[in-house]
Amino acid sequence: MKIEALGVEHFYGHEKVLNGVDITILPGSFTAIIGESGSGKTTLLSILSTLLQPSAGIVKYDGKILSELGNIDRFRRHNIGFVFQFHYLISYLTLRENIALGAIDESRVESLLQSLGIAKLSHRYSDEVSGGERQRAAIARALVNAPSVVFADEPTGNLDSKNALGVYELFREFSHQGTGFVVASHDKKIADYADIIIEMEDGLVKQIHQ
Ligand SMILES: Nc1ncnc2c1ncn2[C@@H]1O[C@H](COP(=O)(O)OP(=O)(O)O)[C@@H](O)[C@H]1O
Ligand SMILES: [Mg+2]
Repeated sequence: MKIEALGVEHFYGHEKVLNGVDITILPGSFTAIIGESGSGKTTLLSILSTLLQPSAGIVKYDGKILSELGNIDRFRRHNIGFVFQFHYLISYLTLRENIALGAIDESRVESLLQSLGIAKLSHRYSDEVSGGERQRAAIARALVNAPSVVFADEPTGNLDSKNALGVYELFREFSHQGTGFVVASHDKKIADYADIIIEMEDGLVKQIHQ
């Protein structure tokens, strides 16, 4: 899915935190949004991922604005995956049950457990595995409905650098298979793995590297 932001602005109260952002996210690309804390990464990611309505400007999904997409819950379920800094797995469910929870059908659960290297841990509860393994389960959960694009906000914020690089490597591998990733991170190392790097500063796109 191609995602275009056109003149996107955002205010929290009177504070303007996005100052007119114009970007295009290409289908199947691994796009990193980097920048200092407070530069507007989370706000921009939330708007691109349909979770937040911009104060001004528009976002198009394959040429359609939000109000043209029909049922928004259905649109998200079929097209978008989400990964957050804190994994938000349900501690009363096993990793496998967490991954299957939002699945439209369970056909991809086993292969995702395999490809994310957590098949042997699939019957453990989330507090019985490491932080890196939990985050891999959260990535599997985001991928379970074969979304066109996965949005991740600081997905490695709680991981050591080895596990963080492992997560970027996974994003790169899955993007080569056609899933898009849009990842906000203050970790500059992500730039070594992404296809496109959007650098934010003070609510503006400072530079785009590809
Ligand atoms: N819910 C909110 N209410 C008010 N201000 C907010 C809110 N969320 C973020 N901000 C402010 O907006 C600016 C951009 O924040 P954010 O998008 O979270 O940036 P980043 O993810 O790059 O750290 C910051 O100045 C932050 O304090
Ligand atoms: Mg943030």
